Amino acid sequence: VTLDLILVGFGNVGRRFIRLLGELEPMLAREGVRPRVVAVATRSHGHAFNAKGLDAEALAARVEAGGALSDESKPTLAFLRQALRRCREAAQRGHLVIVETTILDVRRGQPAIEVIQTALSHRAHVVSANKGPVAIAHDRLMRAAARAKRSYLHESAVLDGVPVFNLARTLLPGVTIAGFEGVVNTTTNYMLAAMEQGGSFDGALADMQAAGIAEADPSLDVDGWDAAAKTAALANVMLGARITPSDVAREGIEQSTAARALAARSDGRRLKLVASATRGTNKRVDARVRLEVRAENDLLARLEGPQNAIVLRTDLLGEIAIVQRGSSLTHTAYGLFSDLMTIARSLPRSASPRRPARRQARRQARGR
Ligand SMILES: NC(=O)c1ccc[n+]([C@@H]2O[C@H](COP(=O)([O-])OP(=O)(O)OC[C@H]3O[C@@H](n4cnc5c(N)ncnc54)[C@H](OP(=O)(O)O)[C@@H]3O)[C@@H](O)[C@H]2O)c1
Repeated sequence: VTLDLILVGFGNVGRRFIRLLGELEPMLAREGVRPRVVAVATRSHGHAFNAKGLDAEALAARVEAGGALSDESKPTLAFLRQALRRCREAAQRGHLVIVETTILDVRRGQPAIEVIQTALSHRAHVVSANKGPVAIAHDRLMRAAARAKRSYLHESAVLDGVPVFNLARTLLPGVTIAGFEGVVNTTTNYMLAAMEQGGSFDGALADMQAAGIAEADPSLDVDGWDAAAKTAALANVMLGARITPSDVAREGIEQSTAARALAARSDGRRLKLVASATRGTNKRVDARVRLEVRAENDLLARLEGPQNAIVLRTDLLGEIAIVQRGSSLTHTAYGLFSDLMTIARSLPRSASPRRPARRQARRQARGR
């Protein structure tokens, strides 16, 4: 099956995803899946379209060398609509996928929400690494996907490629999740761990920016907005909430947090930025991100630097802890890849013409 891909956003994650497709080519070939990038859209690096397929790895190298995809400065949505119209036939067959990796906007979720809605209304599937749309418009987008009979998947929005959303959606039938708590922001967890060792706020943040892990606007990480967006996203999917990041009681870290982190450490404990949500008896979901001092043997306290974790409280399975022991662009890109495979595996395959021929030959050999 050939899947035509339109990439909206071609930054750190989008480009790592393209290279991962190349690295996993043997596995894709075994599964009979052939991804073909037909369009790429960026905000300031132009656009590219070719219905027969683009050399996306060469485009990634060009952007990394400081070049642009085109001189054109068409608005993203106008380019996307045109590309979707030109790919109408693939969309009708369910073979068109939009890979959405634009920047995080925690207040409005744009341009991602409009991109996803436009894609679904043209009957394209969507895979997205962006937590903004899940945190702000999850219910609306899932209804749009159901109307279009297409998928909107966003596994890498929280804990990168670790399957938290897929776990809750597909592997826990009959289980009710009453709440969760976790450490979900890599940048601040790394910074808190560095600061309790005497490292500086600015130095630790610079490390995360150099690794391409901090958000394009790092205040989203340090002010707790990224964690609030992930908390809202998890609450919307797992607890059926309809909240946005602004509904999450929020705390972040600042220069003065270093003293608290050092003090907790010298006391044999650790300061952590904990995200949590609980469904109350009135079904209202109470969500928060706050600094908490945890005993050293607490699961969340034991998370080092880039490690993240979520502990789900369930009725039938008790507590389920999911620990991610490292975070990288590859992990995020893998979340997009696994979503792509979920879509590929859901598509009907045409029967292989070689099998009946072989069966017939065997019958003839047996004289039947
Ligand atoms: N980095 C991580 O480790 C990580 C982990 C999990 C989730 N995520 C999420 O993944 C997404 C992408 O992250 P990233 O690190 O790849 O960010 P990035 O490097 O800043 O790339 C963002 C891309 O989006 C493009 N863009 C922004 N506004 C656009 C618009 N209006 N139309 C078209 N393209 C637009 C940018 O274009 P220009 O290059 O022209 O500006 C750029 O190509 C974010 O939502 C982030 O929260 C990232």
